[in-house]
Amino acid sequence: MAAGVFSNLAADAVKAKGTFTVALSGGSTPKELYALLASDEAPFREKVPWENVHFFWGDERHVPPDHPESNYRMVHEVMLSKLPISLENAHPIEAENPEAGRAAIDYEEVLKNFFHLGPGKIPRFDLVLLGLGADGHTASLFPGSEVIFNRKDLVAATWVEKFDSYRITLTPPVLNGAAHVIFLVSGEEKAETVREVLQGEHQPDRFPAQIVRPSDGTLLWLVDQEAARLL
Ligand code: 6PG
Repeated sequence: MAAGVFSNLAADAVKAKGTFTVALSGGSTPKELYALLASDEAPFREKVPWENVHFFWGDERHVPPDHPESNYRMVHEVMLSKLPISLENAHPIEAENPEAGRAAIDYEEVLKNFFHLGPGKIPRFDLVLLGLGADGHTASLFPGSEVIFNRKDLVAATWVEKFDSYRITLTPPVLNGAAHVIFLVSGEEKAETVREVLQGEHQPDRFPAQIVRPSDGTLLWLVDQEAARLL
């Protein structure tokens, strides 16, 4: 399902304007999607004009790109390394920078340059792919963090107490500026959170995924049976 939506959006965007820009999610859930998209035994790979696709990251752990925790490394191993694309198609967050705040500023420059943004303008990704943590986080917008309500930056570094480390993340204005946002959620352990986020009181400080409401775009939740059990 997700691979079909992704490949259709990509094909349509490239047909309409020559490129498809996507901000990828990290974590474990999307790995299956990425593998399917790159597989030459599935119908999606040849549907997508990969040379016109530009890959960005919705968030990144504050580690080098070869670190086991790196979202870039996961996406590269599972998908990018298997696709007929050049390095120019991938725009990773330079999380190897020892200064997480500097990495965020630098990624903001990457976005401003790629999307030719004037002062105060927001990039419009064709697709933002997001996951959902059992604690209600998405990208690296974790409960109780200031970045949930950051309206001035495109990218921010945020300290995550429970991981005792920084993360670098796109901010809500960028997530909500996308043409299409897809949440990909699976697993029984997410069921309570899915219900809270979708049917509970609006409290994004506790459930940051609730802050994602595209201002002029579509929002699609692809949730498997286990994670949708309480809806
Ligand atoms: C990350 C992701 C994060 C992820 C959720 C869900 O860097 O880990 O961007 O927001 O989507 O934590 O992760 P799982 O898919 O592994 O449950």
